[in-house]
Amino acid sequence: MTAHALELRNLRKSFGKTEIIRGVELAIEKGRIHAVIGPNGAGKSTLYNLITGLHPVTSGRILLKGADITDKPPYEIARRGLSRSFQVTNIFPRMSVLENVRCAMLWDLGYRYSFWHFVGRRRDLAERSEAIMEQTGLGSRRNVPAGLLSYSDQRALEIAITLASGADVILLDEPTAGMSRSETEQAVALIRKISQDRTLVIVEHDMGVVFDLAETISVLVYGQIVASGPPAEIRANTAVREAYLGPEAA
Ligand SMILES: Nc1ncnc2c1ncn2[C@@H]1O[C@H](COP(=O)(O)OP(=O)(O)OP(=O)(O)O)[C@@H](O)[C@H]1O
Ligand SMILES: [Mg+2]
Repeated sequence: MTAHALELRNLRKSFGKTEIIRGVELAIEKGRIHAVIGPNGAGKSTLYNLITGLHPVTSGRILLKGADITDKPPYEIARRGLSRSFQVTNIFPRMSVLENVRCAMLWDLGYRYSFWHFVGRRRDLAERSEAIMEQTGLGSRRNVPAGLLSYSDQRALEIAITLASGADVILLDEPTAGMSRSETEQAVALIRKISQDRTLVIVEHDMGVVFDLAETISVLVYGQIVASGPPAEIRANTAVREAYLGPEAA
C-alpha cells in the first residue's frame, strides 16, 4: 500500500485547558482534492496550523507522504513539499510578479543570497517561471509590483508562488473568501488546473465551491471528524446536515 499524501493520527491540540482538536483521524489520498468543511470555530485553521508546524501538537502524529513530520519546524515541512497557500504574507509587495515567482523557485533550490545575477543565466528557471505565470494567468502582469495587483490576482500569485516552491501537497484556507462570483469561478478553474499531479486540501465555506471541486469531503465538528466520504454521500448524511447546516436542513 502506498503512503497517503497526508495522514493525521489521533491528533489533539489544547489551548490552555480547552481541547480544540479532539482526536482527529484523517487520511488524504495522493492526487486528490479533499475538502474539510465544518462550522465556524470547528478547528479547521487550527488543523492547518498543526500540519504546517506553526503550532506544536498536544498529542498524535502527522505523516506527510509516509514520513513523520509532527512538530518539525515549518521550513522543514515546506522543504518536504507541503505548502499552505493564500497567505498574503507569502508575497513581497514591492517585487514584481516575476520576481516573486523566481524568488520562490530559487528558495526551493536552496539559493538564499545574491541570486539575482544568477537567475537570468539559467534558461530552465526562466522557462519554468514563464510556464507558472502562464498557468496562473499572470503572464501579462509579470512586471507589476505584487502589491498593486487586484485581490484575486494576488491570490493567483500566491498559488504561483506555491507552485514555484515545488510543493506537491497544498493546503488552501478559504481560497474564494471575499471574491465576487466571477472571481470565484476563475479561482475554481485555477485550483482544478493546478490539482493535476498534486494533492489539494481545501477548507472552504462556499458549498458551491466545495461540491464542485472536492472528490472527498471530511466534516469537522467541535474538533472531531464526524464523517468522510464522496460528496454525494456527505450531502445525504443526516448527521452531517444536522451538525453542519442545522436541524432544519436535516
Ligand atoms: N492560538 C490560539 N489560542 C487559543 N485559542 C485558539 C487559538 N487558535 C484557535 N483557537 C480557538 O480554537 C477554536 C477553533 O478555531 P479555528 O480558527 O481553528 O476554527 P475554524 O474552523 O478555522 O473556524 P472558521 O471557519 O471561523 O475559520 C476557536 O474556538 C478558537 O478561538
Ligand atoms: Mg478558519
